[in-house]
Amino acid sequence: MTQHLILGQTLRFTGDALHDWQTGTVHDSAGGVLIDAGRITQVGPGAALRAAHPQVPVTDYGDALICAGFVDAHMHYPQTAMIASWGKRLIDWLNTYTFPEEAKFADPAYADDIAGRTLDLALAHGTTTLTSFCTIHPASVDAWFQAAQARHMAVIGGKTCMDRNAPDDLRDTAQSAYDDSKALLDRWHGQGRATYAITPRFSPTSTPDQLSALGALWAAHPDCLMQTHLSEQIDEIAWVKGLYPDARDYLDTYEAHGLLGARGLYGHAIHLEPREIARLTEVGAAVVHCPTSNTFIGSGLFDMMGLAQAGLRIGLATDTGGGSSFSMLRVMAATYEIGQLRGTPLHPAQLMWLATEGSARALHMGGDIGHLGPGAMADLCILDLASTPAIAQRTACADDIWEALFPTIMMGDDRAVRDVWVAGRRVAQTE
Ligand code: GUN
Ligand code: ZN
Repeated sequence: MTQHLILGQTLRFTGDALHDWQTGTVHDSAGGVLIDAGRITQVGPGAALRAAHPQVPVTDYGDALICAGFVDAHMHYPQTAMIASWGKRLIDWLNTYTFPEEAKFADPAYADDIAGRTLDLALAHGTTTLTSFCTIHPASVDAWFQAAQARHMAVIGGKTCMDRNAPDDLRDTAQSAYDDSKALLDRWHGQGRATYAITPRFSPTSTPDQLSALGALWAAHPDCLMQTHLSEQIDEIAWVKGLYPDARDYLDTYEAHGLLGARGLYGHAIHLEPREIARLTEVGAAVVHCPTSNTFIGSGLFDMMGLAQAGLRIGLATDTGGGSSFSMLRVMAATYEIGQLRGTPLHPAQLMWLATEGSARALHMGGDIGHLGPGAMADLCILDLASTPAIAQRTACADDIWEALFPTIMMGDDRAVRDVWVAGRRVAQTE
């Protein structure tokens, strides 16, 4: 029997909670989720589901909260071992910490080790889908997708392409970036739960020729995603202006080379010009907010509500290892804090939606992942809302689900993750 019934509190969204969190948000204090063959088939009152399916095995989580597994829309698995490296800003941080670590991925065994380690850490934090930059080495992409396949996880990834402004051992060429990326996407895109993302790291580390080659590859494979970085730090933007003197702005360095489109994912997007916001919105592209990274590397304050009102698609991400945590709870807390600094605090429902459905929609996977509803894959996170004494004493006097959940968003970490299910399997049971 492949059916299973999970009982607990349930929280699900039937609409876009970032724009209207009240209309489509459904909480059930005694809910149930029925799973069949890896997918959710029903979500409803737990007692009714139990009565209707008396033969189905049950896991009862009591007061714990069943929600969709978290979706991390931008991270770098090769930076797992150098997370929380001190004191640099973006360009120095890349040169000092990141590039030397990424050079180690010339060894496929090292790539296998870190890919598995990253996914296990992510699962322990309740994250069931991750979108990662790999390294310049094709084997780092194989390592990523193989590790995900072994865990039944839906992940996105791509070979990071760089043909200038990077160390010798981390540079490819326009042609080899095209050829390697094409071979990898032919091998992995759509295999099981794998999705390929064409991955120019960012404009400063690609020549115009390389950006054009990758733009041509995307045009030939428009169902792939494309991921890169955009307008993260002021110094970086000035550097881009110098490298691309004819570009109207940072986004134009991508646009002019065929790298602007609906399936494009633009990480950070903090210091945007009005034209960039208009073009990203017009084409239906997604920007990805990386708040723990933006504070850690000192990048700036993303304008969540301004960009949401402009109609932009927005995902949420750790940006590991620029981000200083593997936890999407920490990412939600930082999103709230940056919202406060901008005078636009987000409601807990908006934060939860962004970390699940919002990120899934940014990846064009809405309804399939990050969603607690019939038809979605059964990728689930079970949150203990009283995981530490400090959180428990606050939750004990909560008047509603939002007061009960917000302390876990603000103060929670992997201790709050009671259990995780991937494709209808309890993670602890598949080990
Ligand atoms: N810009 C280009 N590469 C990177 C990276 O690895 N991390 C971050 N945060 N920004 C980048
Ligand atoms: Zn990044």
